[in-house]
Amino acid sequence: MADEVHVAQTGVGKKQERIPDPCIVVIFGASGDLTKRKLLPALFHLEQQGLLPEKFSVVGVARRDISATFAADMQDGIEKFGGVDASDPKLKGFMERVEYFATNFDDDAGYAKLKDFLAGIDQKNGTKGNRLFYLAVAPEYFADITQRLSKQGMTNPEAPSWAHVIIEKPFGTDLDSARKLNDEINAVLKEEQIFRIDHYLGKETVQNILVFRFANALFEPIWNRNYIDHVEITAAESIGIEGRGPFYEQAGALRDVLQNHVMEVLSFVAMEPPDSFDASSVRTEKLKVWRAIEPIPVEDTVRGQYGPGKVGDEQAIGYRQEDRVNPESTTETYAAMKLQIENWRWAGVPIYIRAGKRLAKRVTEVTVIFKQPPLHLFKSNDPNVTVEPNVLKLRIQPDEGIMLTFGAKVPGPTTNVKPVVMDFSYADSFGKSSANGYERLLLDAMLGDGTLFAHRDGVEATWALMTPILEAWAKNPPTDFPNYPAGSWGPEAADALLRKDGRKWHKL
Ligand code: BG6
Repeated sequence: MADEVHVAQTGVGKKQERIPDPCIVVIFGASGDLTKRKLLPALFHLEQQGLLPEKFSVVGVARRDISATFAADMQDGIEKFGGVDASDPKLKGFMERVEYFATNFDDDAGYAKLKDFLAGIDQKNGTKGNRLFYLAVAPEYFADITQRLSKQGMTNPEAPSWAHVIIEKPFGTDLDSARKLNDEINAVLKEEQIFRIDHYLGKETVQNILVFRFANALFEPIWNRNYIDHVEITAAESIGIEGRGPFYEQAGALRDVLQNHVMEVLSFVAMEPPDSFDASSVRTEKLKVWRAIEPIPVEDTVRGQYGPGKVGDEQAIGYRQEDRVNPESTTETYAAMKLQIENWRWAGVPIYIRAGKRLAKRVTEVTVIFKQPPLHLFKSNDPNVTVEPNVLKLRIQPDEGIMLTFGAKVPGPTTNVKPVVMDFSYADSFGKSSANGYERLLLDAMLGDGTLFAHRDGVEATWALMTPILEAWAKNPPTDFPNYPAGSWGPEAADALLRKDGRKWHKL
């Protein structure tokens, strides 16, 4: 049993037995929320599992001088967001290896001093010149920081030590900006040094899509146009924009979630089996999926924005009333579209995707709706009883699990068929996990394994699909916003999108 759990925790079909080389994780933008809420808790979880090298340090870098309080603040984050007990025997030793360095991101002299500072840690802690730089900063700094690091010789691909750079999202805001950013970063780093993060790929349940498909003989033979009627992918959030008005005004649901998280999930659902689970094979298969998607007609897209409403018991304000949001904003907080993958496996199978804020509940799910059997032997005389197709749900969050519905005979003297559920729950089988997705990704980046990171071509392929939609939307601003109340399932037009194909969104 312990072994099984180990395999599941390390995901994507391979056991993670390697421990990274001695190294320093250098986090730019360390005063931001991500470091405290996600990154430090994730690093400490790795330490708890014995997956960090013995010689290891973390250095937070930001503009403000917060050296005096940084470590205590990070410990607070590890306890609060990582669910770690203050008395954990490994915590004190770990915190002793957390340091802070203040500099402006545009000051070359600061980088030179940082280089010396890190070299001092190498001397003290034996970290051997290896660096994982994590750029948890605003996107306008991605290229600049990378280039300044390179200028100081801190990311030299030819050096005997290694330097890997993790770049947070958003990676560009359209095809041109993503290309430009790729050019700027690739000018100083080799592609193998670049780790474009999408935290959805760190989620166990997203990795499990591949395990489900390719570690079982049962599903793959029917995973195609002969048996599948359509697929729905939903990333619904009940939260609003959580104080991120200026960011979200520029982003919107399509750039924030559909172009990256949802497209990544889609590639796992739709790709062909890779030759092996290495970065190059997996990336190749993902890329083939995105490139096979037909240009999306704007008539097959829907955008929405929430007005005031009730989410659960909470009264929610409308998007336009949120802090630092234009009261006449046309930014979409909901986006849905229909995609067609024109390849042998998927031709003719529509894929409907949607993402939105302030929806009825938080649920991310892939729903695969199978075709009806060729003949209905058990038609009911009761016109209210319809025969439901088999439905497979890959529940990414919350209540992580997999459910398969099928028809069963209702006990009794007549033959009535009712859908019932076969249900696998992660929590029941493996216990609750405190992992936040970043553990796996940080570990892989230290190991230099890019399998679960976005590749240059992939990022450009998804932007190539989405940019024409963004342009068409911008040319034709919405006149009906807000068009869904907070706490609902989104705009009516999203229902109409499926209705015109004689379908409706599966109930979540
Ligand atoms: C982020 C988006 O990338 O993903 C947020 O910027 C969104 O707007 C978040 O809320 C969703 O992530 P998760 O892990 O909560 O589903």
